Amino acid sequence: MTEPVQTPQVFPTRVFSGIQPSGGLTLGNYLGALKRFAEMQKDGVETIYCVVDMHAITVWQDPAKLRQQTREIAAAFLAAGVDPARSILFNQSQVTAHAELAWIFNCVARMGWMNRMTQWKDKAGKNAEAASLGLFAYPALMAADILAYRATHVPVGEDQKQHVELTRDIAIKFNNDFGVNFFPVTEPVIEGVATRVMSLRDGTKKMSKSDPSDQSRINMTDDADTITQKIRKAKTDPEPLPDSIEGLKERPEARNLVNIYAALSRSTPEAVVAEFAGAQFGAFKPKLAELAVSVMAPISDEMNRLMADPAEIDRILGDGADRAEALARPVLDEVHDIVGMIRSRRR
Ligand code: AQP
Repeated sequence: MTEPVQTPQVFPTRVFSGIQPSGGLTLGNYLGALKRFAEMQKDGVETIYCVVDMHAITVWQDPAKLRQQTREIAAAFLAAGVDPARSILFNQSQVTAHAELAWIFNCVARMGWMNRMTQWKDKAGKNAEAASLGLFAYPALMAADILAYRATHVPVGEDQKQHVELTRDIAIKFNNDFGVNFFPVTEPVIEGVATRVMSLRDGTKKMSKSDPSDQSRINMTDDADTITQKIRKAKTDPEPLPDSIEGLKERPEARNLVNIYAALSRSTPEAVVAEFAGAQFGAFKPKLAELAVSVMAPISDEMNRLMADPAEIDRILGDGADRAEALARPVLDEVHDIVGMIRSRRR
């Protein structure tokens, strides 16, 4: 075993999270991720947010579309309230430390760990032989995204919990293998009522940007009429709303709409059920649609305004990348030292 390297024992609170530019964003991404990212900007907490373009190319992306979607996701971060003066906002590929650390983590993580990831099983499906190597190694890159900043907290939706747990496993194994206390054991932050927003067509399936049915989701760029029409057509059951949340247990679609209402109104499912007890969906859905439009329309307008000036978005991403690089480079220098890699170039 190598000599233990002198490292800090206490890690300052640092938040990191990312979103893939692999398609338009949904209400699930907004409530489960973006809204929370904005809320986590507080004094004394460093917040680092990333458009993870290197993750996106684990499945085929048309280059022109990838560029456009990267800017669109950046615009969504900004429109949702991420302030580039308070947070660092950048696109992953501009900070090469992510790729460098990912390689080291590829050598720390085990094949068996990756094989157990549900996202790998879902996305590679039955044809794993034809999936990219990048898709398999995706969680090691995600661990590198987080640990290049020695982030302590990662706000994510429920679906990403397994990947954050793997990040913890990688940090622990690295620390143990090299006899150091270099990486923090990061906490997933999965809080609130919208950690898993479900499809509008099937209350047992996650609302997802890659669902073939556009009716299954509300896109962040949908206009007021489209949002209203999708909520009106959302699958429900024939019962009225119950008078307590226990009454929603076996009713996934009803529970989903109540949760969405609660998240959009910054309330709780209990309060929503108390307000609408006994109401039919015919009465509840127009209220939900009105609320969804009032929250989402200003965000979508702001996204459109920002998208009209792509040079300004690129400037914000470049500035964020410079600040991210300044944090990640010293971490990588220490990692190389710990691993035993000589660094003798004059920079
Ligand atoms: N339905 C959801 N409810 C709550 N949170 C969600 N997130 C995604 N869908 C929901 C959270 O959004 C963040 C960014 O996700 P991503 O785009 O990087 O990857 P994803 O989780 O794979 O998102 P999608 O929409 O489901 O994409 P596809 O269809 O490509 O798989 C993450 O924090 C995620 O938890």
